[in-house]
Amino acid sequence: MNKVGIIGWPVSHSISPVMHNAAFEALGLHDWRYELAPVPPDIVRQSLRMLRDEGDFVGVNVTVPLKEAVMPFVRADERARAIGAVNTIDFRDGSGTNTDVIGLIDDLQAHSVMLAGIRAVVLGAGGAARAAVYGLTKAGAQVIVVNRTPKRAQVMLADLTLAAGIQNAEVRTLDEAAEMQPSLIINCTSVGMWPKVDESPWVEGIPFPTSAVLYDMVYRPARTKLMQQVEAGGGQAIGGLGMLVRQGAAAFRLWTGRDAPIEVMFAAARQALGGQA
Ligand code: ATR
Repeated sequence: MNKVGIIGWPVSHSISPVMHNAAFEALGLHDWRYELAPVPPDIVRQSLRMLRDEGDFVGVNVTVPLKEAVMPFVRADERARAIGAVNTIDFRDGSGTNTDVIGLIDDLQAHSVMLAGIRAVVLGAGGAARAAVYGLTKAGAQVIVVNRTPKRAQVMLADLTLAAGIQNAEVRTLDEAAEMQPSLIINCTSVGMWPKVDESPWVEGIPFPTSAVLYDMVYRPARTKLMQQVEAGGGQAIGGLGMLVRQGAAAFRLWTGRDAPIEVMFAAARQALGGQA
């Protein structure tokens, strides 16, 4: 049996097992299984060793709050080091990578959103924003970061410049960013996520730029307050389920060497979310 899974604390809410197990079944990979593996933050090192040596795991996904904590115990690639977070480990070679970036960029591409040469606004300065700034600038976009705590955004950009030579990004206020005619705005904050579905990271009174497509990383609910605001103004809004599915698909490919059945994973994810996405 080839086992993979997800470590985090807690992990019970994760829909990754449903997505991956549906994909294994669809491809006839009957000797593969994806399991939940709750790991408390204080025993990360021992847990990784146990999963690898005693649990016979091929690899694991890593979620909150362990994405940073696993870094010292894997061979993190340049992308994971730049972002400061690993979300996928392959025990066979001890490597760690970050497929969140691939998930975002692949999903933008699937929605025909061009990135080279565009101006994009990133809302937020946490781990999700870090992955977005890395992916967007590497794809040739000019990035403007807006965060409730601007200092944190400055620190994020300084880190990314040091770790990955990222240049094409600056911190602005929401007013300034809105006036700069961006063609893409990505919500990388958790604002609007279930159960606080009536909240929006877009400050009232500032018009949402008509030039911009919105990508909301939040996938629960399927249509966030912010997406509804944008659509009410005639704009295009994309929810974050595709990023979740495609980061999973990238991990699937890494572990199995097979292309993931994307539509199967989408269907399983939607069903697991119970019509909420
Ligand atoms: P993650 O790693 O998932 O990105 P995080 O590190 O907790 O999560 O970051 C959450 C992001 O959402 C941050 O940019 C945070 O802003 P601050 O840096 O000012 O804390 C942003 N955020 C969370 N709640 C918010 C709110 N009510 N209004 C505006 N921004 C919010």
